[in-house]
Amino acid sequence: MNKSISTDSINQWVEERTHLVSDIQAITDATVPAHVARNPMYLLGSVTLVAFVLQAMTGIMMMFYYDPSTAGAYDSVDFITYQLPLGWLVRGVHHWGASAVVVLTVLHMFRTYIFGAYKKPREVNWLSGVVLLLICLGFGFTGYLLPWDQRGYWATRVGTEIAGSVPVIGGYLSQLMRGGPIQGQFTLTRFFATHVLILPLSITLFTAVHLSQLKKHGISGPLDPAAKPEVRARVPLFPNFLLQVAVLAAGIAGLLVYLSAIKGAPLEFPADPTNTNYVPRPEWYFLFFFQLLRYFPGALESIATVLIPLFIFGCMIALPFVDRSAERRPWKKPVTTAAGIFYVGAIVILTALSFT
Ligand code: HEM
Repeated sequence: MNKSISTDSINQWVEERTHLVSDIQAITDATVPAHVARNPMYLLGSVTLVAFVLQAMTGIMMMFYYDPSTAGAYDSVDFITYQLPLGWLVRGVHHWGASAVVVLTVLHMFRTYIFGAYKKPREVNWLSGVVLLLICLGFGFTGYLLPWDQRGYWATRVGTEIAGSVPVIGGYLSQLMRGGPIQGQFTLTRFFATHVLILPLSITLFTAVHLSQLKKHGISGPLDPAAKPEVRARVPLFPNFLLQVAVLAAGIAGLLVYLSAIKGAPLEFPADPTNTNYVPRPEWYFLFFFQLLRYFPGALESIATVLIPLFIFGCMIALPFVDRSAERRPWKKPVTTAAGIFYVGAIVILTALSFT
């Protein structure tokens, strides 16, 4: 054989078949606006994406050992946590990672809200984001039941009862969630299928929509329409932006490992449907909702379960169509800024009150 194989010929072979070389070149040549690389708040969307990938990876690892049956779920999670080599780490990162995803998604959403990034032409970017937020909460709700321990069992029981109290369609809703009149194997199967199939497929689809919108419109420009040319300049995506994403993502991953080692992922006693003394407690990011329910007892319950959530999500969907001015500086649009701070403040206060 007299023909030597050079790097160039390998590159050419790969390029002709896959376009991989030019795709990598496009990333290394890409640029971002200077104001994006300067403000860490613009890192949040990308870091949320990395956190989701970590959730998918740890989730897939646990799927090799998890048994989605009421007879075996608890023991399989117990095995992952206490016997499988590094199982505690995989489950711990998945557990704490779920909270990280919620925090990052909400912070990212708050950034786009406060900076008016939902405005024309980014309405679809915002709307797909609202769906992503719902999917994110859906992951938290369905994942909670999977260990089939007391904590998940009773919190889900409360959750399906709340759904059951919705006027007119409540009965169908709770039946749909439970797969029958009681919480048992069909419930676990439905939550499992939703958690590992329906939600991952949905999140992939809506993330694709979200990012394709980003590609189409680019990231929103500087807040100040009279920004200086150096703010409007473009800087290389790598290292100026991607390196910051990598450092922040590595820091968060380190925190998740630390929390897994120090606190681990909780696993209580196996689910006992006869133990009605157990005080149900949801994941911390649903606590504000539990607290809200306390203020609307009996016949008023549907105000908290239906009217308030519908109002909030209705506002989120209507937002880009109602707030149509070109102004994006938070201090120049005091009504939307004050509304955002009010909602966040209310959620923080309700969460804090739920501990009292
Ligand atoms: C799964 C969760 C999400 C992921 C992975 C994600 C990812 C991203 C990424 C990578 C960007 C570009 C970088 C940045 O602006 O930080 C972005 C932009 C954007 N996202 Fe998200 N996002 C998510 C959830 C949301 C939510 C919940 C909303 C709002 C309801 C939202 C609204 C937007 C908007 C409006 C932009 C355009 C920002 C601009 O042009 O300044 N996203 N998203």
